[in-house]
Amino acid sequence: MKVTYYGHACFMVETNGKKVLFDPFITPNEMASHIDVSQINPDFILVTHGHGDHVADVEAIGKRAGSMVISNFEVASWFGEKGMKNHPLNHGGKSHFDFGTAKYVNAIHTSSLPDGSNGGNPGGFVVWNNEGAFYHAGDTALTMDMKLIPRTCPALDFAILPIGDNFTMGYEDAAIAAEFIECDTIIGCHFDTFGYIKIDHEAARNAFEAKGKQLILLEIGQEWSM
Ligand code: NI
Ligand code: MN
Repeated sequence: MKVTYYGHACFMVETNGKKVLFDPFITPNEMASHIDVSQINPDFILVTHGHGDHVADVEAIGKRAGSMVISNFEVASWFGEKGMKNHPLNHGGKSHFDFGTAKYVNAIHTSSLPDGSNGGNPGGFVVWNNEGAFYHAGDTALTMDMKLIPRTCPALDFAILPIGDNFTMGYEDAAIAAEFIECDTIIGCHFDTFGYIKIDHEAARNAFEAKGKQLILLEIGQEWSM
């Protein structure tokens, strides 16, 4: 699996010969101004919830690339009304796709769409296939429900967790989340994009190291492979 970080909560994961993009928020993100969005051609776009900092580029990228949107029922249907291919999931449900199995799991957050439409309840995704398994938590607080993931999904090779605090859990709680999900390799997201969520990188890494976990903070545009 190859992971490319496009800033905030946006990652491309290339696996099983497919390109899976999460939560594209690139063109409004000043920190990602060096990313050429026209070169991003995902087969699938997985959307954790309806907030603008997770859906901003879904329509433009997805319509150009012919991507299928996978999200909760409300968000998937909202993009469906815009003429996009979509597959609705809801919490606890999984389905099989060309890239692997995707399960929509609980998050504690909110989810309204940019036009004020109901975005349903927010979630995260656990994705697995023969190459491995990972979790993108979306925007969430630390929640006991994370303990269900190792009981209901294959062992995680890595997880993408929000660490920026204010709108989501901070890195202290995210380090506990890494324990709950029984995963040693964490890629941080949802930090530094706005003033509210600027963090001390060294302190964040140390919080994970103290629990025997590794926190990886990628530069925007950087690739990481497992
Ligand atoms: Ni959000
Ligand atoms: Mn967010």
